Parts: sequence; C-alpha cells; structure tokens
Amino acid sequence: MTARSPKDLSSIKGTQDILPKIVWKWQKAEETAKKIFELYGYKEIRTPVFEATELFEKGTGETSDIVIKEMYTFTDKAGRSLTLRPEYTPSVVRSIVENRLYLRPELMRYYFIGPMFRYDKPQKGRYRQFHQADIEVFGEKDPEVDAEIVEMARTLLSKLGIQDIDILVNSVGCQKCRPSYHKKLKQAAKTHREHLCEDCQRKINTNPLRIFDCKKDECRSAAAEFPKITEFLCPECKNHFDRFCELLDFYRIPYQVEPKLVRGLDYYTKTTFEVISSKLGAQDAILGGGRYDDMMKDFGGPDICGIGFAMGMERLVSVMPDKKDSEKFLYIVHMGEKSKKVALELAKYFRDNGVECVLEYKERKLRKQMSRADKLNAAWSLVVGEEEIKKKKYQLKDMKTGNQIEVTKQEALKRMTS
Ligand code: HAM
Repeated sequence: MTARSPKDLSSIKGTQDILPKIVWKWQKAEETAKKIFELYGYKEIRTPVFEATELFEKGTGETSDIVIKEMYTFTDKAGRSLTLRPEYTPSVVRSIVENRLYLRPELMRYYFIGPMFRYDKPQKGRYRQFHQADIEVFGEKDPEVDAEIVEMARTLLSKLGIQDIDILVNSVGCQKCRPSYHKKLKQAAKTHREHLCEDCQRKINTNPLRIFDCKKDECRSAAAEFPKITEFLCPECKNHFDRFCELLDFYRIPYQVEPKLVRGLDYYTKTTFEVISSKLGAQDAILGGGRYDDMMKDFGGPDICGIGFAMGMERLVSVMPDKKDSEKFLYIVHMGEKSKKVALELAKYFRDNGVECVLEYKERKLRKQMSRADKLNAAWSLVVGEEEIKKKKYQLKDMKTGNQIEVTKQEALKRMTS
C-alpha cells in the first residue's frame, strides 16, 4: 500500500471536527433543546441517515436548490439510488406513513437531533455536513400550534442566552390561492427577465417563488418590485395568518412580516417563519420552518397536516455565549503501588456517587501531581498517602481557596456534593 500524505487524510471540505474544547456548548444546546421539546409534549424519533433518493425529490421538491444541486446521491451495490438526508422532514413523514403512527393514540409531536448533508459551497455558517435540531407536529391545523412552535423556539433560544434575534413570518398560501399568485409573479418576473441571473430566469418557468431565495443583488432588487403573496391569500389562508400574528402578539413576541420569506423548500403551505441573528453574517438563519399540510397525503398516506422547524446547530452554537458552568471534578493524588490501589477504590466510590473524578497513572512526585490538578482546573484534590491510608482520612483541598482539611471518604463526598 502506498503511504498517504497527511493532506490526503485531512477532513473533507465542508465538514468539521467538533473538538472537546467546544463540545460542552453542543451538549448544553442538545440537552436544553431536548428538555424544552419534551416540556411541550414532543417525543424523540430517529430515522436512517440515508434514504431512497425519490423521497427527497418528492418531499423536498424538484424545484428546490437542495434537490437540483445539493444532494449527496450515490448508487449502492444493488444499483439503487440513495441520498444522505439533506433535511429531516420527508424522512419523518415517510416513517409516520410506513409505521402507521397516525393510528396510535399518542400526540404526533416528534423531535430529532442529528447530521444532515448538503453539497453547497462551504462558507462560514454553511457546511456540507451540519446538524439540525428539528421538531415536527402532525394533525394540528389550528394557527395556535404555529404560534406555539415559534414561542417554543424563542424560549429555547432565550434559555441558551441567545440575544439579538429577529423573527420573520409570512404565509405562502395554499393550493387554492397560490396558482393565481404564481401567474402574477410569473408575469412580473418576465418583465424583469433581463435583470435576473441565469438561474432565476430558469425559475420563471419552473417555480417563480424560488426567485425570492436568490441572494444576488440584481435578483433581489428585481424581486423587491414583484407582487406580494400576502395580497393574494384566500380567506382561509388570510384568516389563518391573521390569527397566527394575533397569537404572536398574545405571547408578546416581536416579529416582522416578510412577504419575500418563501423558504427554499417546495412543500410549504400557509405559515413560514425564520429566526435570524445579526451576529451570524451572510448565513443568518438560526432556524426556519413552516406548515406543510399536503406532504403526508402526497406520500400516499392519510390527509394529515404538518408543521415544524429545524435549527442549525453550528449556527446556534456559534452565537451561544462563551460562559461555561465551572467544571467540577476531583483530582486524586497517589504515591506508590499501595496508594494507587486505594486511589482506584476511592475513584470508584466517588464516581458511583456522581462525582467526576480524574486519576492519572503515571508515577509523579506529590508536588507535580498537585500542579497537574491545578493546571487541569480541578475543583478539588485528594491526597492518598501512606499516613492517610492508615487513618482512612485524606487531605481534601479546595483548589480555588487553597483550604485543606482531613476527611473520611464519606465526609469528602458530602463536601463535594453539597
Ligand atoms: P432549512 O431552512 O433548509 O429548513 O434549514 C433549517 C436550518 O438549518 C437553517 O435555518 C440553518 O440554521 C441550518 N442549515 C441549513 N443548511 C445549512 C448548511 N449547509 N450548513 C449549516 N447549517 C445549515 C429545513 O431543513 C426544513 N426541514 C425545516 C422544517 C422542518 N420545516 C418544517 N419542518
């Protein structure tokens, strides 16, 4: 085998290692998200990382950028086209239909945290492997649930200390009112054709709504002249949107109505929303979501509506405050074989009782071990010398104050856990 240079072995463009130094933020974000989701009645669901390509073509939508150019698609040994999931929503709908979860009496509220894959041009906040925390609700068509999930997202962000956010909301209408809007939009886009990029010119015929997703300046200024969807909503969609906004007011949630917020996926009906942060730069959406009342029916399942959102974990973590709850662990200092054995027993005792405990096995002088405890930022150290073993009393030192006392293991435990 030819030796590979380290460069050949480096990570793939658009992926990144989440190193121990930062992982505490991920854990905190994930734990807080799970806790909040469960408080609102959501249960975890886990689906495979890869699925049949048609699932995303049908679910995410054939005119979405994801399906047109961003999917990680490969052929397996049986010649079947598979895709690494670029988003979670079609997978959960497939799982509900396949497992007939709609026949069960439980609430159809699900959450999920895991990696997603999109072959987009990597930049700050945009990766090829990234992670989402996602929630989905099924069978609840009232605007109350739309407002509740926005309120839940806001509660979660505030629990994580995230400030400076803006909430953008819109309605993209339904099968009834969108066609007439499409027609008007198409006409407007045609009159601006020469100001649109090549990609957007193609979108005029495939799905003119997608022009609003384009970030190019010339397309954005052309799109600013286009008619607004909010002016074309049918009475049902308009009432739904008005009530949704009223409920946001009820929760005292500040928001902006943004008629250009059509989102980059084909499946949305009625409500769409995004939470953006001014601290994020060009890729400023921390989370985005909306209602998709037709997907389950389109998948051959029952006519059950859905709504949800997904939060980008990389973006979330990057705006979380750096303050970390102090690490609280005990460093056990031992000298010689006998002392090491007692130290092992003590470490087991403390760990069994919930105290994080560090023991290094290399022979080192007492002073060296104390300075290791200091360097590693231990909250306490416990010295297990020959005298201590005889008395079954050990020197417990509070590394912050420098106070040292002689204690039994039970007394040490009490001090460290009180
Ligand atoms: P999305 O807007 O495509 O929606 O993604 C949701 C969030 O994932 C974004 O707001 C962003 O924070 C993060 N994100 C997306 N792409 C990347 C990337 N390449 N790198 C880093 N972060 C990224 C969906 O995925 C829908 N499935 C949301 C949904 C759930 N709608 C209804 N239910």
